Amino acid sequence: MRIFLDTAMPEEIRELADLIDGVTTNPSLVAKAGRPLREAVEEICRLVSGPVSVEVTATDAAGMVEEARELAGIADNVVIKIPMGREGIRAVKALEAEGIRTNVTLVFSPVQALWAAKAGASYVSPFVGRIDDRAGDGMGLVSQILQIYDNFGFDTEVIVASVRHVRHVVEAALLGAPIVTAPYAVVSKLFDHPLTTEGIERFLADWKRVPK
Ligand code: G3P
Repeated sequence: MRIFLDTAMPEEIRELADLIDGVTTNPSLVAKAGRPLREAVEEICRLVSGPVSVEVTATDAAGMVEEARELAGIADNVVIKIPMGREGIRAVKALEAEGIRTNVTLVFSPVQALWAAKAGASYVSPFVGRIDDRAGDGMGLVSQILQIYDNFGFDTEVIVASVRHVRHVVEAALLGAPIVTAPYAVVSKLFDHPLTTEGIERFLADWKRVPK
């Protein structure tokens, strides 16, 4: 299972660059980072060799394709995030046909994910946290998408997104989702357990009592 960092903050990416498998951004995350998009993407792509998702803001297929071509020119590992919808699906078909990888984002239903796969998207991003925020079943959606992709042998990879906590990561792993993208605060917690910290402290204290 690959773990991506869901952020546009270079300081967060720098800290985990050697451990993570990729990065996902969106316009809100880029705004939070407070830098021009191109500058932020150039730096992120220098730090990370895995896929870096960058979202278009055009709302029509032609505009999305034009914007995507420009973003894809920044670095080889740029993946273009395309918002789900008719225009988005048209843009995905065009971009994948010319070898530009896409990640269909803002996916909240299994049939949206079916369209993404039919269009040949490299990735699809179901937003589990936003579904759970409304008392829905985010992981139920992930499970349905995985089943549908398996039924038809689609190559599109599921990126479990809008992750709120460690439990989302555990559930995604149990379902066999290939990728999860999580904010820095969640990814940081994946390394830790209070009993590990306590155990290390005890071993080190005992080690001091071993005759040298
Ligand atoms: O990158 C997209 C997604 O992960 C956004 O998450 O927390 O804004 O619902 P969130």
